Amino acid sequence: MRSILTENTVLSVGIPHKNAEEARLQLLRHDLLLTNLKPIKTKDLVFFPVVDHRQLSKLLHNISFTVQECTFPIKHKMEPIHKVLKKEFPDIQWNDTSLKFDQLGDIVVLKLHPRKISLSVRQRVGELILSYSKKIKTVLNKSDVIEGAERIYPIEHLAGEKRWKSWHQEYGVLIWVDLKRAYFNPRLAEEHHRVAVSGIEGKKILDMFTGVGPFALHCAKHALCEIVAIDINPYAIAALQKSIKKNKLKGNIHPIIADSLSILRMHRSFDRIIINLPDYSINYLSLATKLLKKGGIVTFYQFISKTENPKQLIRKKISSQLTNVNSYKELNIKVGREISPSRIQVNVDLLFTS
Ligand SMILES: C[S@@+](CC[C@H](N)C(=O)[O-])C[C@H]1O[C@@H](n2cnc3c(N)ncnc32)[C@H](O)[C@@H]1O
Repeated sequence: MRSILTENTVLSVGIPHKNAEEARLQLLRHDLLLTNLKPIKTKDLVFFPVVDHRQLSKLLHNISFTVQECTFPIKHKMEPIHKVLKKEFPDIQWNDTSLKFDQLGDIVVLKLHPRKISLSVRQRVGELILSYSKKIKTVLNKSDVIEGAERIYPIEHLAGEKRWKSWHQEYGVLIWVDLKRAYFNPRLAEEHHRVAVSGIEGKKILDMFTGVGPFALHCAKHALCEIVAIDINPYAIAALQKSIKKNKLKGNIHPIIADSLSILRMHRSFDRIIINLPDYSINYLSLATKLLKKGGIVTFYQFISKTENPKQLIRKKISSQLTNVNSYKELNIKVGREISPSRIQVNVDLLFTS
């Protein structure tokens, strides 16, 4: 039984605003969302057009929802941007990385290599993207590789308003991003959310390399918990402080400008430690075990070389770092996104039992 009654009058699921993004992603993942129709927002709920309603209780088990018929506006069909670019600039060898871009709030960030694509073409691409959607106000370009401990990309302005700051939203969490002065990666949204819903109620958490604080903000939005959020970059911590004021948080975040190595004295204090400095996270694993309470969990993100068996490689690296630790258990190893043709990211959760 499919839900379509007329072309745009269909069954819909009404979700409270605070759960809408989580529900939208679940519906998308299970092919239940009708993406040709525009969701409708009322004061309390967001209504999503759905294909079928029978699996909803199982899928949205911790979210309250209503099911009813609704007439939705039909989405104006736009040609995907990569097709537009290929048509407009047929002479350019568009490869996968040059076509990838991120949207952070109302800013689009491209990755067009300045040595391969001239400034005038980069700017024309920027204008084209700007005209693509009214929600986009600024187009920027990561013009070189990431730099320094703060992991900031050199950024050039291509089109629209000349600014680098915006409110970005993930799962109902508002994050102030300052692209010129502090690192932020929207592709980790699912991980930020996963950690926040992984049983952290009442826990004490350390986010060793917090950046503008996405892990800390997700955790504090979701649960009554204490989070110590450290970053060496004062601009990143300033952005986090702005986000703390903007969001209604259940938990407490304590933002600290410091080198994470200076926290050695907080011996056996934390139930959960997040290490996201993916070039070097694994080097901090041994330090983290000293800061962790018995039964605590370390979640870390590490770049490794591409290999036939990435899980085996990361296990080897972990055991070489933890030679003095008696017992730990692997809770989760996930082979994540590709960073470059030769490197991938792995996401790891380890439970320390002693
Ligand atoms: C990859 S970013 C992670 C940011 C954040 N966790 C996220 O998911 O968006 C790494 C962060 O570590 C910070 N950092 C680098 N070295 C540090 C150190 N020794 N102590 C504290 N922070 C450091 C950088 O300033 C940067 O914001």
